[in-house]
Amino acid sequence: MISERLLVSDRISRLIPYQPGKPIDEVKRELGIMGEVIKLASNENPLGPSPKGIAALQAILPTLALYPDGACHALRQAVSEKLAVSPDSLIFGNGSDEVIHMLGLSLLEEGDEIVVGDPTFVLYEAAATLAGAKTVKVPLTPLEMKHDVAAMAAAITPKTRLVFVANPHNPTGSVISRADVETLLAALPPRAFLVLDEAYIEYVEDDPEFPRSTEWIKAGAPVIGLRTFSKLYGLAGFRVGYGVAAPEVICLLNQPRSPFNVNLAGQVAAAAALYDDDFIAQSRKNNDDGIAQLIAGFEKLGLSWVPTRANFIVVNTGKPAKAMFDALLKRGIIVRAFPKDLPTHLRVTIGTPEQNARFLEALEACLT
Ligand SMILES: Cc1ncc(COP(=O)(O)O)c(C=O)c1O
Repeated sequence: MISERLLVSDRISRLIPYQPGKPIDEVKRELGIMGEVIKLASNENPLGPSPKGIAALQAILPTLALYPDGACHALRQAVSEKLAVSPDSLIFGNGSDEVIHMLGLSLLEEGDEIVVGDPTFVLYEAAATLAGAKTVKVPLTPLEMKHDVAAMAAAITPKTRLVFVANPHNPTGSVISRADVETLLAALPPRAFLVLDEAYIEYVEDDPEFPRSTEWIKAGAPVIGLRTFSKLYGLAGFRVGYGVAAPEVICLLNQPRSPFNVNLAGQVAAAAALYDDDFIAQSRKNNDDGIAQLIAGFEKLGLSWVPTRANFIVVNTGKPAKAMFDALLKRGIIVRAFPKDLPTHLRVTIGTPEQNARFLEALEACLT
């Protein structure tokens, strides 16, 4: 009997598989939609991939028969120069998702705890569960939906090994301040780290006050930074992310890494995209303009929203989230709903001006 062979540990059976934003082709197939379907569900760059990243791919096509550089040498050099950190302070992953799993595999053990905001990016809990560690969830503040940093500091115990803060936060777009970082660091027990997940940092990079993980890492504080090429750089399909930390921490994270975890095309495109300044500026401007466009639209519809610094915004439609999600889907617009945590809200990725306008039109139609 197959079922008798499937007795697995609690760590596996308790895992809840990640629910990604619905792919465009799946929605077209399921709903029989012939026209254009737009996906504003996974915080990808609506302008597409970095042109410099794509141009760099031509040169590697003849070498695709070879394994990629497992050490990501060229990409490591490029990131190390851009962030002004030493090359051995970096670890690369198949998306920052993989680096989150490496954190769990390398640093967490049975009986350990992680502290997170609630709701937050679900992979932190998945990494903890896989390692047999417990996830302590601290609700976000009710109105602004920010991390409740004082409550998180109070939830830290001697069992805490990792405190995860996405900054800007997913799913709300809120940020924590420099003083908040200090508060969390002051509360850490000797064996713990603060993980600042900066998947969306490129959207706030112009703000000199924004707390960057690298500042604390360079000063020797127990901080680990996470970044990705999936958001502003427009390379989600290539799956490249990385972690920044003290070299001793990186050595430990490297232990469970599989030898060729970052594919060749991703390494090459990411290194080129990092210095695609025109595209970076264009993407930031599209995002800032798009936030203003959506907020103006929400105001016209009399809806409240959560202030955001990321490339998505949470709007309170006042109607059940799942029903609104389905109604928008029928009109060819894929957004994200979290009915358990945010019962009347939707999270919408900032699109192009045309996509934002189409979303606002559809939203209005679904509300009436
Ligand atoms: C906060 C946060 N961290 C990490 C990731 C993972 O990014 P990736 O694995 O594509 O690098 C995401 C993706 O949505 C995210 O929102």
